[in-house]
Amino acid sequence: MAYSQVTVTEHLLYHQQQSPQATGRFTNLFNDLILAAKIISREVNKAGLVDVLGFTGDVNVQGERVKKLDEYANDIIIHRMERAGVLCAMASEENAEMIVVPDKFKRGEYILIFDPLDGSSNIDVNVNIGTIFSILRRKSPAMQDVTLGDMLQAGVEQVGAGYFLYGTSTMLVYTTGQGVYGFTLDPSVGEFLLSHPDIRIPEQGKIYSVNESYWNYWDEPTREVVSWFKGVDNPRGKPHSLRYIGSLVADFHRTLLYGGIFMYPMDYRDPKRPRGKLRLLCEASPMAMLAEQAGGLATDGTKRIMEIEPHELHQRVPLFVGSEYDVRKVSEIYRKHA
Ligand code: AHG
Ligand code: MN
Ligand code: MN
Ligand code: MN
Repeated sequence: MAYSQVTVTEHLLYHQQQSPQATGRFTNLFNDLILAAKIISREVNKAGLVDVLGFTGDVNVQGERVKKLDEYANDIIIHRMERAGVLCAMASEENAEMIVVPDKFKRGEYILIFDPLDGSSNIDVNVNIGTIFSILRRKSPAMQDVTLGDMLQAGVEQVGAGYFLYGTSTMLVYTTGQGVYGFTLDPSVGEFLLSHPDIRIPEQGKIYSVNESYWNYWDEPTREVVSWFKGVDNPRGKPHSLRYIGSLVADFHRTLLYGGIFMYPMDYRDPKRPRGKLRLLCEASPMAMLAEQAGGLATDGTKRIMEIEPHELHQRVPLFVGSEYDVRKVSEIYRKHA
């Protein structure tokens, strides 16, 4: 196959022209997000050499100890995207409140919700990490102040979603509702070039991905779900392989390309507050849009992720995402116990 020379800009403008988002402003949004990701990628790629490893000493709104690279990535994205001239507001995993673009900057109708650095526990050991983003359009009239309601939109309202994966190479995978496309950064020219045109997730997979150390904190239906993937009563007659990297972006990217299922079920570590760890707006929703656009599915066990109406900015949900056959099996088991 001829080496691809298709850049993201070209792809958005020419290959996505049927989508209403392929306007100059949407392309500007992507170009500024790409610049932020290139800067983050540069720091990630030399993390061992500069003082970005380790903790800042702070604890974020999630109750997590903040890594220096979490904070660095967050600052880079906010600084760059405030100036993109196309956003009215942002929300980050690392910020308790929504970020309204100051009126000293030119603003637009888009909203960016992001996880600046996903997989923070893997930073210091050189394992794949990433940045996840979700793009919405404001619902409130342009002349009014942006409201929290503009941020709390169900996944079906997303006009774009994707992630950057900082690994053996730096990749961008995105969708604007016209399929899923993968680009690989060519550091020699500083451009993301099309490397995975029209990604389709295999209809059924051979891999399941879950942190089994929570077995004792799961309810019975969840144990039955996980046991099914370890069993042999499936069309292949063989157990699935277990792969768990601990970075959602990396576990999801493998699931997207190889098929199978990624699971982060509800757990009862705190019996009074059972929860699924992953955040709806900046993790589950964008991954659900990508999965569905690639022919897969995403559920919280009973509901389609894309249809969950958020009621708070940092709402967490259980997440089962991947190949259609595998996710349908999960829903079937939970339905049986409903
Ligand atoms: P983040 O680093 O953005 O806080 O996200 C970490 C998430 C996700 O990347 C991963 O799937 C999950 O945490 C791993 O959680 P466990 O360590 O509990 O398995
Ligand atoms: Mn975190
Ligand atoms: Mn994350
Ligand atoms: Mn994060």
